[in-house]
Amino acid sequence: MPTWAYELIVAADRSALSTLAAERFVAAAQVAIAARGAFAVALSGGSTPRDLYALLASEPWRERVDWARTSVFWGDERAVPPDDPRSNYRLARETLLEAVPLPAENVHRPLAEHLPAATVASDYAGLIGRLVPSEAGVPRFDLVLLGLGDDGHTASLLPASALVHESARLVAVTDREREGTLRVTFTPPLLCNAAALLFLVAGSDKAAALRELLRGEARPDRYPAQVVRQARGLVTLLVDRAAAADLPQALP
Ligand code: 6PG
Repeated sequence: MPTWAYELIVAADRSALSTLAAERFVAAAQVAIAARGAFAVALSGGSTPRDLYALLASEPWRERVDWARTSVFWGDERAVPPDDPRSNYRLARETLLEAVPLPAENVHRPLAEHLPAATVASDYAGLIGRLVPSEAGVPRFDLVLLGLGDDGHTASLLPASALVHESARLVAVTDREREGTLRVTFTPPLLCNAAALLFLVAGSDKAAALRELLRGEARPDRYPAQVVRQARGLVTLLVDRAAAADLPQALP
């Protein structure tokens, strides 16, 4: 049984999960802005964070974040145009960014549709290096939002991908397609240097992957989300009861 430090919070349902996530988002922003006058957050894609983004765009949550001091990045992005339905940027733009007073210059979308993709990745890493303060020589995000795929991936670190073992680059192009597109993704060194990693995991289809992430033997090639076991900061998993079904001790 692996021993690594994480915080597991089981919410009654997706709505409760999103409310808890909004509380964590606001808290992370307030702590960062109080400490250094700025908040750097990397958003995730997928469907689970949609409700969180909508919540943050609504009262009273919208007023609780100092958007003028917030900078938004993406932990991964598909190689599609920004108006493509598959775009993680489009998801955030439609549900959150258009509804809050976040300065346009604080929105840092990875230009994943541009070519060559490897240049996009290195350019994005360079941008992050310029804008996000480093610790131990690696940019340190105040908060990185993550999802968990039913196959055990997180961000776009996919099963059997060499990126699971990437130790130098901070952002890279996937060597696997998923849903027909290549992607640009944060790599383990960048993910694991964040002050806080916040997973949002909902649905019974995630139960096995969550069990393997938290309690399975170390097999990051099979369950890439396990790379967060090397995280230096706080790893929090906000899950619903359905996703926690294989974690008997987790249920109250
Ligand atoms: C993406 C995400 C991906 C996502 C998981 C979970 O670009 O799709 O970065 O890692 O977070 O696949 O997705 P759901 O929230 O839809 O379950």
